[in-house]
Amino acid sequence: MAEKLWKGRFEQPTDKLVEEYTASVHFDSRLYRHDIEGSIAHCRMLAECGIISHDEASLIVQTLGEILRDIERGKIELDSSQEDIHMAIENELTARIGETGGKLHTARSRNDQVALDMRLFMREALTGIRDLVNLVQTTLVDMAEAHLGVVMPGFTHLQHAQPILFSHHLMAYYEMFGRDFARLGDCLGRTDVMPLGSAALAGSPFPTDMEWTARHLGFSRVIANSIDAVSDRDYLIEFCSAAAILMMHVSRMAEELVIWSSAEFAFIEISDAFCTGSSIMPQKKNPDVPELMRGKTGRVYGNLFALLTLAKGLPLAYNRDLQEDKEPVFDSVDTVMTTLRLLSKMLPQIRINRERMAQMAGQGFTAATDLADYLARRDVPFRKAHHVAGQIVQHCIQAGKDLGDCSLDELKSFHKSFDEDIYAYLDISSIVDRRKSAGGTATDRVREAIARAKAELESRAQGSLKSLQTKE
Ligand code: ARG
Repeated sequence: MAEKLWKGRFEQPTDKLVEEYTASVHFDSRLYRHDIEGSIAHCRMLAECGIISHDEASLIVQTLGEILRDIERGKIELDSSQEDIHMAIENELTARIGETGGKLHTARSRNDQVALDMRLFMREALTGIRDLVNLVQTTLVDMAEAHLGVVMPGFTHLQHAQPILFSHHLMAYYEMFGRDFARLGDCLGRTDVMPLGSAALAGSPFPTDMEWTARHLGFSRVIANSIDAVSDRDYLIEFCSAAAILMMHVSRMAEELVIWSSAEFAFIEISDAFCTGSSIMPQKKNPDVPELMRGKTGRVYGNLFALLTLAKGLPLAYNRDLQEDKEPVFDSVDTVMTTLRLLSKMLPQIRINRERMAQMAGQGFTAATDLADYLARRDVPFRKAHHVAGQIVQHCIQAGKDLGDCSLDELKSFHKSFDEDIYAYLDISSIVDRRKSAGGTATDRVREAIARAKAELESRAQGSLKSLQTKE
């Protein structure tokens, strides 16, 4: 059993069950790299400020490096008697270099240490997730470009509404994920604050230099208030919220993929690699991956609620409850990352049934709005035109035919303003291409949207290249 670093005040050993109940090492061991990175920066700062000697600092830093390697090689066993990853690493350090190891914890506490570790973790996770959102957006733009010209029915209330370009539909998701990218970026901005040195809650009496630690760890600024430093979990809640919205977007797309791949829709076929079969029905090919994407959205919502509830009743500053922030955050990070990875892999392998989409684009009287628009352009008030078009639709339903099957005389019997050019006007691609309003589905507009998206992705790539260069 590991020695408790806080044993001084205690006369009796910790109850075994309490030890297990309070331990977090089985999940926070995931922070070992960040913990060591933070400790190394802290230790160097202590030496820079003359709080410990440079020799002591070198020994500590070198040993922490060795511990890092040994953890990575699985040579260090982590168990609940060590409570958490911070204690486990410090115990290991002291076991290796004796009392000098005990100097590392000068001018800090586990409260600011865990706050730093989580910020380091989140900074990395947010960057990784944004890269994956970027990848999904790139995939969507590529698909939109490759399938430009494919028409499909656009829906409202899941009823055929008006014909649209399939690419336009894809680009709607591009926009949604673009907002996710920005939201995660905002969260990254508020994560980028360095709390170490705030110690337990009140700050430290040692002549530390928190700016030095911040610079060393690549943070933009030091946290303004030491109490806030150890109690703030806003950035984690913001992340869980951004993750919930992101998964809601994925889930809406997943739902469409599920219904579009049904025999009733038959718009798409999802690759075998992303489907599974049934143990009883030999003919089945089920869209399990999008179904699970939709399903996993629930746990990501749940994680947001877990954190909000965790934080709502806590008096300042640190409370042990805050240890419970990690599992929901880790779960959201993992779920979002695997989901996005799979989505970007699955999308390009979807087979698009363009004939079926085009055929359906014209069904369900999707040209009815244009029938009314035609009259409105000939000076018929739109309300009147709408009524006439409605009567023609009703007539077609009863006669069992399409709008385009009506003779000119038939149309004229509803309104005298119809002319021969109505047939060309109701042609599906002209219906689509007339919708040139900003952000509309006209091919020209969609082409522009794709070009804008490519420029945006390109400037993002340039931006991250630049920030990499400035870091070097
Ligand atoms: N394992 C703890 C956590 O995750 C670290 C901080 C513990 N601090 C304390 N005063 N017990 O929150």
